Amino acid sequence: MDNEVVDLINKIKEKYAAQGQNFKSYLEGLLYQDYTHYWDYIAVDSLLTLQKPKTLIPDEMIFIIYHQITELYFKLSLHELEQIASAKNNISVQFFTDRVRRINAYFKNLANSFEIMVDGMEPEQFLKFRMSLLPASGFQSAQYRMIEMYATSFERLVAKDKREELKDKSIEEQFKYIYWQAGATETDTGNKTLTLTKFEQKYGDELLRLAKTNKACNLWAIYESLNETDKQNQDLIAELRNLDLNVNVNWPLMHYKSAVKYLQKPKEDVAATGGTNWQKYLPPRFQLRIFYPELFTQDELTNWGKF
Ligand code: HEM
Repeated sequence: MDNEVVDLINKIKEKYAAQGQNFKSYLEGLLYQDYTHYWDYIAVDSLLTLQKPKTLIPDEMIFIIYHQITELYFKLSLHELEQIASAKNNISVQFFTDRVRRINAYFKNLANSFEIMVDGMEPEQFLKFRMSLLPASGFQSAQYRMIEMYATSFERLVAKDKREELKDKSIEEQFKYIYWQAGATETDTGNKTLTLTKFEQKYGDELLRLAKTNKACNLWAIYESLNETDKQNQDLIAELRNLDLNVNVNWPLMHYKSAVKYLQKPKEDVAATGGTNWQKYLPPRFQLRIFYPELFTQDELTNWGKF
């Protein structure tokens, strides 16, 4: 037998021996094992059964699939964020920068493709199928909130009017005033919508746990723990700034555009969101969610979300 093959077989033997496994049994398994096919590996058939419209209105399919695409990009972003968090104690600037750059690529794609929502559905169809989905809203995307909790220290996610006052308080205390409490409230009464109440019931505990776990391993904490030379790395700073702008300005602006397109009428808002305060809540210039204010100039901070 050719030497390379013998060498490979020996290495495989060692691999199984290290786990106390019988190499010959695995070799026999290989004999019967089927080839890997694209459709199995990518789980195409399962993937394509995950779209379950609530109505017979054709454009609802676009709405579902685009949300699913977004959630997959969110999953990719979390995959990178988790790797950064795990490497926190001996992370290299290169690794850190490369991972943040990847997340930026995902968010750039999301912002650039949002026209699929803005221009890709007939408003008449949207306004009809949307009524069958209440009280569901993208507001209930837990991955979106998790990305923020990995990206920055928790006090930055406190509602802007409470941010300064609560900056040294416990995470539990800050959590009560997390910025999203101001969204999905009813314009008329100021009460929480069912959208918000149900979201908190389902994810509140899990998100609070994550906030606590991430105290020392969110991106800002890790950046702060770098030595002075690494902290000055311009590539890293540029990627962190881009991340802040992508997650807190570029994507939210595109998203807001879709809300304006479908839900805003000259005199009254369409009731399709359950009468929420979305116009006051969604624009980045009102929310002023900023992950890394230290990395922006005063002028940039003053004009946040206005470009
Ligand atoms: C036609 C398309 C869309 C419209 C009209 C729309 C509308 C809205 C509105 C009005 C809100 C405020 C909360 C509420 O009243 O329910 C909201 C929040 C939200 N939506 Fe959408 N949305 C659209 C597409 C999407 C997509 C594709 C995603 C992707 C997951 C998404 C994710 C979110 C998130 C994460 C929030 C919370 C934002 C925050 O808290 O700052 N939306 N959306």
